[in-house]
Amino acid sequence: MQLYAYHGGDIITNKESNLKTEKDQIDWNRLWNEDLKKMPTLNYSAWDKIAVQFNKWMETDDYPQKLLEKIITYPQYTILDIGCGNGAVTLQIAKKVNHVTALDMSSEMLQFLRKNALNEELSNIDYIRSTLQDFEMDKIYDVVIASRSLNGVADIKNELKKIDFAAKKYVFITLWGVNARGFEKKAYEIIGRNFQNHPDYLYVYNILHQMGIYANVEMLECETKPTYANLDEAIDFLRWRIKDLTDKEESLLKDYLKDVMINDDNGILQYPYDKSDWVLIWWKK
Ligand SMILES: C[S@@+](CC[C@H](N)C(=O)[O-])C[C@H]1O[C@@H](n2cnc3c(N)ncnc32)[C@H](O)[C@@H]1O
Repeated sequence: MQLYAYHGGDIITNKESNLKTEKDQIDWNRLWNEDLKKMPTLNYSAWDKIAVQFNKWMETDDYPQKLLEKIITYPQYTILDIGCGNGAVTLQIAKKVNHVTALDMSSEMLQFLRKNALNEELSNIDYIRSTLQDFEMDKIYDVVIASRSLNGVADIKNELKKIDFAAKKYVFITLWGVNARGFEKKAYEIIGRNFQNHPDYLYVYNILHQMGIYANVEMLECETKPTYANLDEAIDFLRWRIKDLTDKEESLLKDYLKDVMINDDNGILQYPYDKSDWVLIWWKK
């Protein structure tokens, strides 16, 4: 019997499979794709839609700093930042290195990055609007970063190969931990829908392992909780993550949120039972 053959990837023949252990034969890329199909797709317009809110969230989010503490750079380095977003990570990196290529599929996110870079008088950034999948890796960079941008990427093994190819010194990527999306999970429970687990960092770690890349794994200890200007903004976020919310479901969610959201000193609403769960996977070339 011919085992599953992933296009563009490694074809495992019967002969090879006899030599491999059961663990080696798990097709993590196929499992990743299967889990991903159960999740709502976030294309460029979904990210365009959330860009204003995301830019605001990043003013108080402790994640960028936690990641920046781990990324190794030197002043002469060139960087590729995949899925750079509004630049919460990109801008701090750009201050420390020679050049940054900032790639994102969302034009709204890139607009924020440009504006934020202008405010900081940074002129060593190239902006590329593209998906990672469509981006041709025809250059090598000292460091490749993909921060919180690979969770929705199908056939991730192909993209990991491209990323590894493009990096001369280091690769730093972050992915969802197993406890991510707690706010969303609770919302699914409130409206009586099934919550689908997302594919997490472990799939990527195993894909890399099978590619012969034995990466380092670190849990980032982030404390920031989800915050919203008001209840409508919180519902907007859930509408963004949960497909086709009905009026009835929205009203159930509003009732729940009215009870549990906490008003902080600045009049901002905070959901107290969740915090971001990001895992850093990095390797040296
Ligand atoms: C959660 S934001 C992360 C932004 C930034 N890297 C950070 O950590 O603050 C995800 C970003 O990745 C971008 N993105 C997601 N999938 C992408 C893909 N396949 N190709 C290019 N950009 C992508 C989105 O447009 C969005 O701006």
